[in-house]
Amino acid sequence: MASPAEDVSGTLDGKVAIVTGAARGIGAATVTHLCRLGARVAVSDRDGDGAHRLAELLVAEGHDAAGFVCDVSDRGSVEAMVADVAGRWGGLDLVDHNAAWTDFRTDLDATDVDLDTWDRVFRTNATGALHLVRAGVPLMEARGGGAFVFISSGSAAIGEHARVSYGVSKAALEQLARHVATRYGRHGIRCNVIAPGFVLTDSAARGVSEVGRIRLADQNPLGRLGTPEDIAHVVGFLLSDRAAFLTGQVIRVDGGLTIAPRLAGHDD
Ligand SMILES: NC(=O)c1ccc[n+]([C@@H]2O[C@H](COP(=O)([O-])OP(=O)(O)OC[C@H]3O[C@@H](n4cnc5c(N)ncnc54)[C@H](O)[C@@H]3O)[C@@H](O)[C@H]2O)c1
Repeated sequence: MASPAEDVSGTLDGKVAIVTGAARGIGAATVTHLCRLGARVAVSDRDGDGAHRLAELLVAEGHDAAGFVCDVSDRGSVEAMVADVAGRWGGLDLVDHNAAWTDFRTDLDATDVDLDTWDRVFRTNATGALHLVRAGVPLMEARGGGAFVFISSGSAAIGEHARVSYGVSKAALEQLARHVATRYGRHGIRCNVIAPGFVLTDSAARGVSEVGRIRLADQNPLGRLGTPEDIAHVVGFLLSDRAAFLTGQVIRVDGGLTIAPRLAGHDD
């Protein structure tokens, strides 16, 4: 028998949260969810227009949100954004590093990958998180603690024929999370990773054909693709005190795709 859904509204009341890459896709669903949990939310993105537009919608719904332009691959841009957020709301408690970038046309295999692509992917996906940690940890320490979530990918844990930069950068991000969890745990700071499976956002849809999407859904033990909300709900949990004894972990929010028997060559 289904148990009544737990009411989680208010679990982030009064917390100040930054979500990077928040103008669309999983990041947009995440800022919306964190607002509903009661957080004051910085909608941060390289796409400033998109960030401001979404923040205005959230404010119109009665939430406390604001848009910030920030390129996470640029240390100065991250430092300025974090300082602006802390200035606006008096501190910082929570960070979700969701922004990521790659280019399927140039992020190829190890012998053919474009090195400018490799650099940019790394600066965005992995070094961007380092900038956020450097700027965020002192502010979290000043509040007695805080929490980070980094959004990785199933690509960090499997062998793939292409997009070598993306997979390697996400694996680096996961190791950075284990470092942050270990180094700053005694300072009340937790750090966890979500590794999504295929989530139907506009950019993910561009990388996979309709036939590929049907096959991916069919291979999934739950028989469907992920939604941005599937990820957002787990971010909300990991950033809340309900996950107070959870740190340094990679949570695979993929409907079981990575343990699916069909990937191991079985039909059923
Ligand atoms: N969608 C999926 O199937 C899937 C699967 C595994 C992992 N992920 C991960 O989930 C996260 C979100 O994915 P999505 O599909 O919503 O992506 P998306 O491409 O729809 O959105 C990414 C956002 O990041 C922003 N961004 C890119 N580079 C940036 C930079 N340098 N600075 C600031 N913002 C920047 C973009 O403007 C965009 O708004 C990413 O980390 C991605 O790697 C997604």
